[in-house]
Amino acid sequence: MSSGISFAVNGRGVTAQIDGAATLLDVIRNDLGLTGTKEGCTEGECGACTVLIDGKPVHSCIYPAVSVDGHSVVTIEGISDGETGRAVQEAFWDAGGIQCGFCTPGFIVTVAALLENNPAPSEDEVRIALAGNICRCTGYSQILDAVEVVVSGKERA
Ligand code: FES
Ligand code: FES
Repeated sequence: MSSGISFAVNGRGVTAQIDGAATLLDVIRNDLGLTGTKEGCTEGECGACTVLIDGKPVHSCIYPAVSVDGHSVVTIEGISDGETGRAVQEAFWDAGGIQCGFCTPGFIVTVAALLENNPAPSEDEVRIALAGNICRCTGYSQILDAVEVVVSGKERA
């Protein structure tokens, strides 16, 4: 059974006719062509598919698309529209938090959401926030460094 949904993606209103079983990841990548959000495990384990719904990180691969009706989604394509998101993107680049890059969109949107709500998190708070995101390349230290770059930059501002 198909359903009509209306929601915002990166500040733009979208209406779509979707299969009732579709995930938000299906809609983002296949219907909207926003392929920056990655498809990894499709089981809610790796975080590659993370997007923000009303500012909160979710694993879009296990999020029913019908549930996004009336809500606001931000993907990696829209994250640099905000000052925090732009700073996080730049910090990942500067700190070497990007290697193969497959995990990077999920990490960046998750970190941006964290710092929007808590501009000066402790390392434990950062690790907890990133618990749903897996990186096979960096060993995580450069990712933690990237978060620190943004936090210390904000503290200097
Ligand atoms: S692809 Fe969604 S958590 Fe892995
Ligand atoms: S940079 Fe390759 S998985 Fe994280």
